[in-house]
Amino acid sequence: MSIKNDNKITIAVATDHGGVELKDLLCKELMNGGYDVQDLGVQIGETAQYPLQAALVAKAILEGRAERGLLVCGSGIGISIAANRFNGIRAALCRDEYDARMSRMHNDANVLVLGGRTTGVEVAKGILEVWLKTDFEGGRHVARVEMIDKINN
Ligand code: RB5
Repeated sequence: MSIKNDNKITIAVATDHGGVELKDLLCKELMNGGYDVQDLGVQIGETAQYPLQAALVAKAILEGRAERGLLVCGSGIGISIAANRFNGIRAALCRDEYDARMSRMHNDANVLVLGGRTTGVEVAKGILEVWLKTDFEGGRHVARVEMIDKINN
């Protein structure tokens, strides 16, 4: 796999206890690929609450400390629900490379979410690689993406 960082982007990463092993492994992949990785925890043996972990990554992006985010929890579901409560965050729970591609091309997802108990390591690496190298398509999708943050105002 080649996760190469051509744009020198920073990725904020967090997990609860349901995804620590996958988080650690993907952090290594990202660092080997030249990404600036902010590992916001948790670490092996610790317990964490997924809404709080989601907030760490959401705030890192919204405050300009990271361009993208990677979140993991057991299923990926709880942490994606929590992250999407933040205006400006578009967190996509991806189970395969098609999800990853579409989340970037159509939804301009800025946070990738994976399930530590549902997605195997090699599949997760493939998802991450596709998600990082796929650009937002723009065009007709711009107005739709903008609607997301405006809809509850
Ligand atoms: C933690 O046990 C688990 O509930 C959490 O990681 C996640 O799967 C929630 O959606």
